[in-house]
Amino acid sequence: MFDDVAPKYDVVNDVLSMGQTRRWRRIVVEAMDVKAGQRVLDLAAGTGTSSEPYADAGIDVVACDFSLGMLKVGKRRRPDINFIAGDATRLPFADNTFDASTISFGLRNVNEPKKALAEMLRVTKPGGRLVIAEFSQPVVPLWRTMYTEYLMRALPAIAVKVSSNPDAYVYLAESIRAWPDQDHLAAWLQEAGWEDVTYRNLSGGIVAVHRARKPDGPGAGPAAGAKALASHTGPVAKLRRNITRPQR
Ligand SMILES: C[S@@+](CC[C@H](N)C(=O)[O-])C[C@H]1O[C@@H](n2cnc3c(N)ncnc32)[C@H](O)[C@@H]1O
Repeated sequence: MFDDVAPKYDVVNDVLSMGQTRRWRRIVVEAMDVKAGQRVLDLAAGTGTSSEPYADAGIDVVACDFSLGMLKVGKRRRPDINFIAGDATRLPFADNTFDASTISFGLRNVNEPKKALAEMLRVTKPGGRLVIAEFSQPVVPLWRTMYTEYLMRALPAIAVKVSSNPDAYVYLAESIRAWPDQDHLAAWLQEAGWEDVTYRNLSGGIVAVHRARKPDGPGAGPAAGAKALASHTGPVAKLRRNITRPQR
């Protein structure tokens, strides 16, 4: 599916988000807080639009995705970026490789998102940061109703006019509705072994930016995420108590 939408992916995104994606992306880069010379993993990077600000700032960014179609469009546009084909659930990188990892509008598309969170923990250095941007749940009920109408009716209709694969945008709308809300995703991060989990709502909760840190004490090794996942049997609510709610 992503191979099919690759050629017009960025233009269609701008139209469907009414220009909001640029602001959301800027906030993600600020949350990453990385410096020139550091090594960053941009997972599910697609055509590399989410990787560009890092490359422009002299950061050694690796844009990883499993869609060869997306990677090809990206490489043509930005030959200077290091695009690597790889599956989020079995990353082709050694333990503790990156100073920080990020995934923008991609975790929802991964078949086994919890595995991807554990893999990102494995390849991030102890003390390193994770930033996730993903569609989420608007927090105000009226706004949520209006947005759901847009998702389920207007978005597929606009996609017919601007995209070569409108069915992909029906999938987009359905996958956003089925995706866990802000607190739930934060609990997944904790289950996977990430700590200092916080999130910030953007555009009233249409998008949430989650931030977390890989523990750097003893036991923070590459197996920590998998171990945390395997050992977690308690209710999600128990984990949620340690989450810092929306930052402004
Ligand atoms: C909506 S695009 C996001 C692209 C980019 N991060 C952005 O912000 O524009 C989602 C991407 O997730 C990728 N993806 C989905 N499942 C994946 C997996 N298991 N491993 C790697 N990439 C995956 C798709 O190929 C697609 O390029």
